[in-house]
Amino acid sequence: MTVREILKMGDPRLLRVAEPVTEFDTPAMKELIADMFDTMHAANGAGLAAPQIGVNLQLVIFGFKQNARYPDAPQVPETVLINPILTPLSDEMEEGFEGCLSVPGLRGSVPRYVKLRYEGVDEHNQPIKRDVDGFHARVVQHEVDHLLGKLYPMHIKDFSKFGFTEVMFPDLDPNDDD
Ligand code: NI
Repeated sequence: MTVREILKMGDPRLLRVAEPVTEFDTPAMKELIADMFDTMHAANGAGLAAPQIGVNLQLVIFGFKQNARYPDAPQVPETVLINPILTPLSDEMEEGFEGCLSVPGLRGSVPRYVKLRYEGVDEHNQPIKRDVDGFHARVVQHEVDHLLGKLYPMHIKDFSKFGFTEVMFPDLDPNDDD
């Protein structure tokens, strides 16, 4: 088990556009994906993108049954999504609070598409195609943003809804948001 260091906002490596994955089922890719799950689980994250551990590849993981950082969120299947393409299925957007393991201790409300299709491949280069909505759609948009060099604060419209988790969500365990 290897928990990798998560880069924090301000690190220029979080601002790069990630490269497509071209190798599958190699020892290096297996180790990378295993480390990403170890890192995400150790931080109680809902998702993690490879650029967050300094690996500039189009690879994200997400999913949980119950998440301490988002106790009210419905479960999202544990997923490895590589070389993703997102297609909104309507123009409808909604605001919702997000955190990010690269922006520790903070939450902000950002607009996301309510319904979208995501396509890509899994760790074995098998196709994935899902139509999702709500929190699942939000998590995917957040993670795929990391592959474009974007962090959620770049989407905040109302900065009165951006602040410290321990202040805005005092019922959450602060240890789950660092
Ligand atoms: Ni994030």
